[in-house]
Amino acid sequence: MQNNQEIIDATVAYVKTSLEGAEGGHDWWHIYRVWQLSRQIAAHETADMLVVELGALLHDIADSKFHNGDESIGPARARAFMESQGLSEAVIVHVENIIRYISFKGGHNDNAFRSPELSVVQDADRLDAIGAIGVARAFNYGGFKNRAIYDPAIKPNMNMTREEYKNGASPTINHFYEKLLLLKDRMNTPTGKAMAAERHRFMEAFLEQFYKETMMDRIFAD
Ligand code: ADP
Ligand code: NI
Repeated sequence: MQNNQEIIDATVAYVKTSLEGAEGGHDWWHIYRVWQLSRQIAAHETADMLVVELGALLHDIADSKFHNGDESIGPARARAFMESQGLSEAVIVHVENIIRYISFKGGHNDNAFRSPELSVVQDADRLDAIGAIGVARAFNYGGFKNRAIYDPAIKPNMNMTREEYKNGASPTINHFYEKLLLLKDRMNTPTGKAMAAERHRFMEAFLEQFYKETMMDRIFAD
């Protein structure tokens, strides 16, 4: 039986291999940031550190966005890997659920899985979508999708359905209003919320400067 550190080391090696060639916003360094942020948040919360670390490391090994919307591949690959490490069924099921529900967009749903460990990893994943790194990832993703940086004629739509959001082609600057500026109020843990505040202020400053340089009025009157 391996100790926890050996299991984490093996998981890091497995995830690095799985993500070779991944798009820049979802590469190993995204996983590394979410992993380290998860450890920092978990240090202030009551959570099982092994489950938190495994959940963070394995949460994006097969993002459904890049697998024709198939949401079962990620949990299945994670399970196969965890079984190979001799992890208990309880840990395996918990980590599978973290992967399944981390980006669950079902809103308030009593059947949705929740746990303190999911709350920690979800906060870490959301933190990595905001602040300076959030700005970088948004424009990287928009470039990957060949979207406009901005277009004053296209206003943000904050009430899109899930389908519209997935298939949409709104300019990247709109993504701040459609998602990124909303994340600070969706943090689960007090630690995550405090970390989000600074990143949120940075994005607001970025947008102010952006409007100045583009000679564009605020795209969204608030
Ligand atoms: P998750 O990490 O929960 O899978 P996403 O895959 O939706 O979240 O997003 C990954 C990164 O790509 C995030 O930084 C997010 O802001 C960015 N992104 C997602 N959709 C868009 C979009 N329509 N425009 C710009 N950036 C996007
Ligand atoms: Ni992620």
